[in-house]
Amino acid sequence: MTVPQPPEPIPGARLLFSLDPSVSHLNHGSFGAVPIGVQRAQQRLRDEMESNPLRFFTQGLVDRIAHTRRHLAGFLGADPDGTALVGNATTGVAVVLQSLGLRPGDEVLTTDHGYGAVGFSVQRECRRTGATHRALHVPLTAGDEEVVEIVRAGLRPGRTKLLVIDQLTSATARLFPAAAVVGVAREHGVPVLVDAAHAPGMLPITVASIGADFWVGNLHKWAFAPRGTAALVVAPPWRERIEPLVVSWEQETGFPARVEWQATLDYTSWLAAPAGLFALRSLGLDRVRAHNAALAAYGQRVVGDALGVAPADLPEPGGPTVSMRLIPLPRGVATTMDAAKALGARIAERLAAEVAVMTWNDRGWLRLCGQIYNTPDEYDRLAVRLPALLAKG
Ligand SMILES: Cc1ncc(COP(=O)(O)O)c(C=O)c1O
Repeated sequence: MTVPQPPEPIPGARLLFSLDPSVSHLNHGSFGAVPIGVQRAQQRLRDEMESNPLRFFTQGLVDRIAHTRRHLAGFLGADPDGTALVGNATTGVAVVLQSLGLRPGDEVLTTDHGYGAVGFSVQRECRRTGATHRALHVPLTAGDEEVVEIVRAGLRPGRTKLLVIDQLTSATARLFPAAAVVGVAREHGVPVLVDAAHAPGMLPITVASIGADFWVGNLHKWAFAPRGTAALVVAPPWRERIEPLVVSWEQETGFPARVEWQATLDYTSWLAAPAGLFALRSLGLDRVRAHNAALAAYGQRVVGDALGVAPADLPEPGGPTVSMRLIPLPRGVATTMDAAKALGARIAERLAAEVAVMTWNDRGWLRLCGQIYNTPDEYDRLAVRLPALLAKG
């Protein structure tokens, strides 16, 4: 079977990271990897903080955060006045959910591609308020139009108080037509939260053009920011209704500062995040995106071939820069979350490869990512060794 040519490597890129060279790191999507230069930038900020904590926190920190927020919002194509920095996508989702004022009889609508922890958050808010949670089934092979139609048919205007849609799904590595979904929900008066945890850095997005009521994205995955850096973007009508999870000194300032200032915390990840964008821009955003997407596609094909999966059965991610790809595992493998976790750990231990093993729709899936520090031989090695490991059970 012919496998597509892998992309030209980006020479020296691996040296920009402190990743263990004896391991193939094929799961950038879960927790990212922070370039050494960005780690250094954050350490310098921490040194500054520790040299005089009083001065660091009381003289100008709120302004420095606001400055950083404007910079990051510019990168995302989001309104800086509608953007709040938060620790992670999960926090952004929780802020939105608890600001909605859900009541008994209301419902929150999601899809069955949604992120597990976001599902738990929706369920807890529903339990707390007497609302209900409903998840729409979207087939893995559904095209964009079908996705929009499934959502349209699933909305219950008046009752559905929020639709949560992923821009790029985690378990299924699938790009959803976020702007079109927002459009159809808007026609029915249903607010939308776009969970774009993977979008910043990977997808060429302009958040404002998606038109969502709420959008949340992580910069600590594909935008090389230190962990703990995410953005919550809120449309104008909602801004004054948004309440922080923790009330602190900026409460009276209103959105976004009241969401950002969460008392005494280490804010250096946010302040160092522009160094991540600098690294990306220096390498060339388009070049990085094209490289990563092509490498993930290569990895999907070689590992898929090794497992005997026909190319037609390898899920297409739906966009040219999607840098995560899915491979179906043999029937009966990793069909529960515990089994998936155990298999991921076995692959890490025996094959020295970090991969994501997912369970979706009663089936086990391998998710492989491409990043600038990866090379084609890492996927080749996995392809050679994985079938025997799976055969051993
Ligand atoms: C779609 C999606 N939503 C939310 C999250 C949660 O991100 P975080 O752990 O940074 O809050 C992830 C993480 O992988 C994700 O893939």
